[in-house]
Amino acid sequence: MQIPTHLAIIMDGNGRWAEQRRLPRILGHRKGVETVQTIVDECLELGVRYLTLYAFSSENWGRPQEEVEALMGLLGTFLKKELSQLQKRGIRLMAIGELDRLPKSISKILNDITKKTADNDRMVLNLALSYGSRNELTRAMQRLGREIAAGKLQADDLTEMDIEAVLDTHSIPGPDLLIRTGGEMRISNFMLWQMAYTELYFTETPWPDFSRNKLLQAIEVYSHRQRRFGLTGAQLRDVGADDGEERH
Ligand code: IPE
Ligand code: IPE
Ligand code: MG
Repeated sequence: MQIPTHLAIIMDGNGRWAEQRRLPRILGHRKGVETVQTIVDECLELGVRYLTLYAFSSENWGRPQEEVEALMGLLGTFLKKELSQLQKRGIRLMAIGELDRLPKSISKILNDITKKTADNDRMVLNLALSYGSRNELTRAMQRLGREIAAGKLQADDLTEMDIEAVLDTHSIPGPDLLIRTGGEMRISNFMLWQMAYTELYFTETPWPDFSRNKLLQAIEVYSHRQRRFGLTGAQLRDVGADDGEERH
């Protein structure tokens, strides 16, 4: 099975999972945290190098205050408990998004864990928090604009690499596979630039019910995709980059 180097997940469907059971939405989010732990473990075992989890979007700030506060509470508890687990497993924590909008207590723990796990090299767990792709791109453009204004960069010399370098994800390769749980077939402002050639996988399963087996199923489907990056299948076979043959 072909394991994606970078797996990104839009963890959706927590609220509906709870509503279907006549439970408060926050219980769906709480169950969702358990799924996070299971999936992180499985990814580590499979040899995924980067796992990005979309945990809270720029737009999610607009939800009822009660839900936002409950989500921040869960995030805080998760992070506090997670440090020792991350260290034990050799996982490095990173975060992308407009992190200064997060409550001070959370950004403090986040900073602390990011520093303490910086040398771990088995897997990167990248949390998208207060993240929106348009917001990320806007901040990136502002930065480039300032560099151009300061004469450090010429507008006509700008390359795709210069843009990559100012994104929150600058040290992380683009996702190979995106999984969205919860049945919606949309991207919801997630990694628009980075997902130019990402394979997409949508499942009806809500995030609280997502499991090791369902993850394996998604990766199995991914394994059978032929990623052509704009070229022809024959070209890929010529350069030996296609391992599709052995899959049939
Ligand atoms: C995803 O679940 C978690 C967050 C967006 C924080 P939702 O809360 O969006 O669940 P649904 O989509 O309402 O079921
Ligand atoms: C996307 O889910 C954001 C996260 C999973 C954190 P949403 O539930 O916010 O997306 P929409 O509103 O259905 O597009
Ligand atoms: Mg949702």
